[in-house]
Amino acid sequence: MITPGAAAGLPTVHCRICQGPVTGFLDLGHHPLSDAFRHPEENGEEFYYRLAVGQCADCTMVQLLESVPRERMFHESYPYHSSGSAVMRAHFTGLARHLLSTELTGPDPFLVELGCNDGVLLRTVHAAGVRHLGFEPSGGVAAIAASHGVRVRTEFFEEATATAVREADGPADVIYAANTVCHLPYLDSVLRGVHALLAEHGVFVFEDPYLGDILAKTAFDQIYDEHFYYFTARSVQALAHRSGLELVDVQRLPVHGGELRYTLARPGRRPVSPAVADLLAEEQRRGLAEPATLHRFAANVARTKENLLALLHDLRAQGHTVVGYGATAKSATVTNFCGISTDLVAYICDTTPAKQGRLSPGAHLPVRPASAFAEYYPDYALLFAWNHAEEIMAKEQDFHAAGGRWIHYVPEVRLR
Ligand code: SAM
Ligand code: TMP
Ligand code: ZN
Repeated sequence: MITPGAAAGLPTVHCRICQGPVTGFLDLGHHPLSDAFRHPEENGEEFYYRLAVGQCADCTMVQLLESVPRERMFHESYPYHSSGSAVMRAHFTGLARHLLSTELTGPDPFLVELGCNDGVLLRTVHAAGVRHLGFEPSGGVAAIAASHGVRVRTEFFEEATATAVREADGPADVIYAANTVCHLPYLDSVLRGVHALLAEHGVFVFEDPYLGDILAKTAFDQIYDEHFYYFTARSVQALAHRSGLELVDVQRLPVHGGELRYTLARPGRRPVSPAVADLLAEEQRRGLAEPATLHRFAANVARTKENLLALLHDLRAQGHTVVGYGATAKSATVTNFCGISTDLVAYICDTTPAKQGRLSPGAHLPVRPASAFAEYYPDYALLFAWNHAEEIMAKEQDFHAAGGRWIHYVPEVRLR
């Protein structure tokens, strides 16, 4: 059954949080896994899934209609390395220091991180001699964290593994996760795990891309397999309430194109910051939970696709060279949704060794090392890593000075 106002052809599914009806508002078509970079000689079929987003009519949570089995995404060769950006390294080091001086000052404090990746945050906690544990199911990056002295369990955080840690290590003063909670469709189990592990006065702090920024910037490339949920203060408040926790603080963050940091605690244990009511009121004013807002977003996405393709075809017709910058997971959404192949974007430059020499998922754009960029400047560079724009444009000033131009597509298609 298609609910009135739904995107044509999308099913209505059950909300992963509250079982309410989730109606699709944007269909991006069939997509490969966003981080499945292929060896050029590999010729097996790629795994595809339907990439479509909907909203729950009951709890307002925006979520994918179809989830990908977690082991397909997070495994030994998961290629994303959190330490790849200097700005993100500073972001996590700063937060670790802040937590060490605020939440982790009691006798023998304990911090647990979900999705610690290569240990970008926990290295600082380890260096301070504070008890910690990272959950990181992707073996390759977990091994890098361990090589820096970080204590890691190569496991998925969920109720059973969290309970095992509670029994072995005792309660956690802080449970922290960046760009991970929105990756976990099975949030019911994760939150039962948080409930079991969190100390009475502890806090569960997590940060993820903010739906408010995604809509404001038409950042449709934030939508991909790993990003299952698209949170707002309102949907997280409802989620916290269902899980026997309370949303006590929210903080907007400039990283990754606009995120929110949520702080949850056991009910009544912490004062609720006025920032929560302020943001809820702002979300109400902006109509973030209104289906009409989401349909407007879908229309904007179609326009961005049209404009980007028109520009790329135009540049090709004029004989200009175009390469991509940053083989982000986001770029898999852009290239596959827009149908961008090597005739429009010759290759993508990226600093991640695990992506270099491979082909991008689905679109099969070759990935070259970042050094290839300066070896042969293209006329135009399509900035797939737009969330790192300042860092990248600062270090690639010579490109611009040599007459090169950046193509941005967020918040709209334009040249810089
Ligand atoms: N926190 C890092 C950051 O912000 O850069 C890494 C984010 S990365 C996008 C998501 C990470 O979560 C991956 O390293 C993945 O292996 C890990 N992950 C996936 N499911 C998990 C789970 N159930 N428990 C803990 N980590 C998980
Ligand atoms: P992210 O947007 O998910 O953080 O991914 C960023 C990608 O861009 C990652 O593959 C690393 C790459 N990258 C560069 O190639 N050069 C850079 O300067 C930065 C910051 C990232
Ligand atoms: Zn719901």
